[in-house]
Amino acid sequence: MKRIAFFDTKDYDLPAFEARAKEAGISFKFFDTRLGEDTAGLANGFDGVCVFVNDDLSAPVIEKLYKGGVRVIALRCAGYNNVDLKACFGKIHVVRVPAYSPYAVAEHTMALLLTSIRRIHKAYNRTREFNFSLSGLTGFDLHGKTVGVVGTGKIGRIFIDICRGFGMRVVAYDKYPAEGSGIDYVSLDELFAASDVISLHCPLSEETYHLIDEAAIEKCKKGVVILNTSRGALIDAEALLGGIKRRVIGAACLDVYEEESDIFFRDFSGHIVEDDTLARLISMPNVIVTSHQAFLTEEALAAIAETTMKNLTDFFSGGRLENELCYNCGKVEECRRGRSPRCF
Ligand code: NAI
Repeated sequence: MKRIAFFDTKDYDLPAFEARAKEAGISFKFFDTRLGEDTAGLANGFDGVCVFVNDDLSAPVIEKLYKGGVRVIALRCAGYNNVDLKACFGKIHVVRVPAYSPYAVAEHTMALLLTSIRRIHKAYNRTREFNFSLSGLTGFDLHGKTVGVVGTGKIGRIFIDICRGFGMRVVAYDKYPAEGSGIDYVSLDELFAASDVISLHCPLSEETYHLIDEAAIEKCKKGVVILNTSRGALIDAEALLGGIKRRVIGAACLDVYEEESDIFFRDFSGHIVEDDTLARLISMPNVIVTSHQAFLTEEALAAIAETTMKNLTDFFSGGRLENELCYNCGKVEECRRGRSPRCF
């Protein structure tokens, strides 16, 4: 029986993983705590760790895990900006869940957009208090508006299809445009200038860090609605706040936040939140924040558990690691994918 230390466990993780563990010959030890330098020691003697978006997999943590015997990191997510892949190379294999339900994220993005522009969040609170006034609830039609989609991968493309269903005009920017997709690709500057709604669906990298900053906001149409269900640091939160105060940004819907790792997925309802930028954003009538919940559907949770179990059983059986990542990903020369069953 292989032993996996499961970090940042939430109640919704347990049913899907517990149901599949025995059959896969894997025993999980579920820790509520996140993985980080202080908690890496909990994984000593385990064969692997299973982690999520806000666990810390920086070089010092990787070193501690390796010394403790860990040989595989199984990410329960698609994004891997929290993993130092170079530090892992040659020591610990990293596997991820590249797609679980791109529909879940794309649909949540549209739910946020509709909630915001049709003021559903305000109407819900009003009618619960038997306030049936319509004052201040005027929205706008999506039909005929332009949406700018940054990142036309799995999620971005489904979001594009949903927007087309609403009769929106779609323009997009992607570093690697999908040839023959029929998507109208434009430069980032053109996208900023043309879009009534901007939705981010690209990964976080050095290149995309603060993609929406003060300079970008200045290029946007007045009243633009910004949607971010990708990664928080794609947006400079201070600049976003400034854009909202200057009335350039008409609304913002954020499922992710730059400094979310100390806040999201936890209950702070009885506490004073120290992050003034987040507190100010949440206080704005035209900002909606959800706490990284876009992925959270039954279908996605089942798919995450299914793929993670397969990743782990493939690793322990010595098989090909279909969902392995390494720091050579995307580099044509160095990438061993297709030539070798594993990255090292
Ligand atoms: P994907 O890998 O299918 O698509 C990403 C797209 O971004 C690709 O087309 C790629 O060419 C493009 N891209 C790469 N670098 C770029 C750059 N510098 N500028 C513009 N485009 C660039 O990924 P997928 O599955 O569509 O996921 C997108 C993002 O959504 C993930 O990176 C992840 O951060 C986020 N996500 C958020 C979830 C949530 O619960 N809020 C759940 C799952 C994913």
